[in-house]
Amino acid sequence: MNFGGVSWGTIAAQKYLIDWEEIEMNAKPFTIGVLTSGGDAPGMNAAIRAVVRKAYESNAQVLGIANGYEGLLNGEFRPLGIRDVGGILQRGGTILQTRRSERFKEPRGQREAIRRMNEAGVDGLIVIGGDGSLNGAHALHKQGVKVVGVPASIDNDIWGSDMAIGVDTALNTIMEAVDKLRDTASSHSRAFVVETMGRNSGYLAVMAAIVCGAEIVLMPEVQSTVDEVASAVEDAYRRGKTHAIIMVAEGANIRTTELARIIDEMDVGFKTRVTILGHIQRGGRPTAYDRLLAARMGTRAVELLLEGHTDVMVGLQEMGINPIPLEEVTSRSRPVASKYYEMAKMLAR
Ligand code: ADP
Ligand code: F6P
Repeated sequence: MNFGGVSWGTIAAQKYLIDWEEIEMNAKPFTIGVLTSGGDAPGMNAAIRAVVRKAYESNAQVLGIANGYEGLLNGEFRPLGIRDVGGILQRGGTILQTRRSERFKEPRGQREAIRRMNEAGVDGLIVIGGDGSLNGAHALHKQGVKVVGVPASIDNDIWGSDMAIGVDTALNTIMEAVDKLRDTASSHSRAFVVETMGRNSGYLAVMAAIVCGAEIVLMPEVQSTVDEVASAVEDAYRRGKTHAIIMVAEGANIRTTELARIIDEMDVGFKTRVTILGHIQRGGRPTAYDRLLAARMGTRAVELLLEGHTDVMVGLQEMGINPIPLEEVTSRSRPVASKYYEMAKMLAR
């Protein structure tokens, strides 16, 4: 075995000259902790795999932390080797499991998490998750932890990255579902009110409206009225359309089922049906785009940690992956995709 160019035999021979504690410290490879937190997103596994394999290439080691910050608090660590992440690239969800943790939000919880990390010998942490999780990462940095964030959330509501891991897969899932609904809608001359996820973000709804050819979209960032929706649907009917799709983000100002009931009663030409897509949008095999993004972000996160960066998130900007200060990520909101809102309306003619 070779030890920094000196063989074990040589070290033993020079024993009396050697500070063993220092040798042990130098011998310990950089240890990266990795966790997934918040809502799961397709591609999280691909990101974990990239972290582990890049760390291996860089002579670092990885401890997987189960159950997000809750697992960090409970000391749920286990070594992740290159074979442990085999066969997961194409799987949705996260092999590390994810949780939400109220305890971790409190400074006391964070201190306990740091104690656990020190105990396990973690030198730097990679947090894969949404905006809440990145806030948690920033909080850890403020207490001296070396941390790099990887944006993963189907909502695409994270400042500093054009795309988060999971968004593309979710959008494709919605598109496939709406294409199917449209078959029934046109065969029966119906309007379908389709609810996408997005409690605070209309990104999925507005992008789905564009790629699925919806008549109108409702999203949390824009206040809509039932009359607006009714007239868009009625207008579509008058223009000779055989169906109408109304996309509604989960957090829009009008409840989906309520909207469908009122539109149906208003007799706008089409009978109305409602479909709430729900959590199918969070699951499934990640698309090629998400796998590639996860590979690029996971490897860059390891590079940044090993180069000594901390308190940053890897962000996709103009096709490049750049370090974005977590201070900026956690204090700013992604602008509403208003140009896309207008585009969806214009294309619905
Ligand atoms: P997501 O990361 O998908 O946005 P959440 O908003 O639920 O999901 O956040 C995930 C976890 O991150 C929370 O359960 C909590 O433990 C932690 N977290 C969220 N916000 C903060 C905060 N401001 N400070 C510290 N930890 C936070
Ligand atoms: O963060 C992604 C998201 O899908 C939101 O759009 C949605 O409101 C939320 O998660 C629901 O999460 P859960 O069902 O896990 O509480």
